[in-house]
Amino acid sequence: MITVMGATGHVGRQITQRLLDAGEPVRAIGRNPHVLAALAAAGAGTWAGDAADAAFLTRAFRGADAVHTLLPYDPTWPDFGAEQQRLGEAIVTAVQAAGVRRVVALSSLGADLPEGTGFIASLHEQEQRLRRVPGLDLLVLRPGVFFESIAAAVDLVRALGVNADAVAPDVPVPMIATRDVAEAAAAALLARDWSGVQVRELHGQRDLTYAQATAILGAAIGRPALEYVRLPDTEMVRALVEAGFSPDTATLHVEMGRALSDGTIVPRERRNAATTTPTPFEAVVAELVQDPVA
Ligand SMILES: NC(=O)c1ccc[n+]([C@@H]2O[C@H](COP(=O)([O-])OP(=O)(O)OC[C@H]3O[C@@H](n4cnc5c(N)ncnc54)[C@H](OP(=O)(O)O)[C@@H]3O)[C@@H](O)[C@H]2O)c1
Repeated sequence: MITVMGATGHVGRQITQRLLDAGEPVRAIGRNPHVLAALAAAGAGTWAGDAADAAFLTRAFRGADAVHTLLPYDPTWPDFGAEQQRLGEAIVTAVQAAGVRRVVALSSLGADLPEGTGFIASLHEQEQRLRRVPGLDLLVLRPGVFFESIAAAVDLVRALGVNADAVAPDVPVPMIATRDVAEAAAAALLARDWSGVQVRELHGQRDLTYAQATAILGAAIGRPALEYVRLPDTEMVRALVEAGFSPDTATLHVEMGRALSDGTIVPRERRNAATTTPTPFEAVVAELVQDPVA
């Protein structure tokens, strides 16, 4: 039996489905029982509760042969680092209290660095917390930027006629489909064939610049001339706060953009058969613009 945190999210939902398809019993965790109902219908045991509740997580992790963890994210948090620390500590407390032997932890490229990477610095801290659990067989997955995060701008792009973010237009960035992240995680959770601490980067099908990704998005929505604009940092923070981000998370988003732009966040492994995944951005965008809630 495998416990999947974030089971109603982009990655977790697809991990859960892959595990069920392989005949593996799954405990699927999320906060919303109504959203979890679809996973229950697919055959998962569903556990609704908050990841900040270490006692709840301990119950959900107990007896699992392996657990998939992630650090949930909310752009409205006034103090992003403090919230991620609270959730991260609850997860590690539960891993230890439940006697979990194997974890596949969803992290990110850039999590090798302790600071200067925006949101990703919290994932660095979480990796360190998990590494300190005695005897834990830990597989850390460090994917690049999710295609779904880039395509999530589509409504704004349609409204404004331009795609804007904090990343330089011409820097190649590893970008990946969440289905490919889920495939890597599910395969590891089923095989349970590593020991000690292992880190695996997931670079996606090919690197894309934000200008190239914008051109692909534009082509998919019938705007082949769609432009990408890198907003100055202060303007980007203002735009994100207007869109509902807290000032803290808006600032961290911009810091992450700077780190992607200036070569701070880069792959540490060479592109190879293990880091390269099959799905191109074109395939995901075509689906998402038809079905924007996917
Ligand atoms: N976006 C990127 O480009 C990117 C790149 C690299 C790595 N990552 C990593 O990937 C993670 C996000 O993965 P994703 O896109 O699959 O997530 P997602 O779609 O945002 O889903 C988050 C999941 O976590 C659950 N959740 C949220 N808050 C929770 C809480 N307090 N307690 C329990 N469950 C909670 C959500 O369910 P409910 O809301 O129903 O509770 C949902 O199942 C990020 O945290 C980041 O670390 C992201």
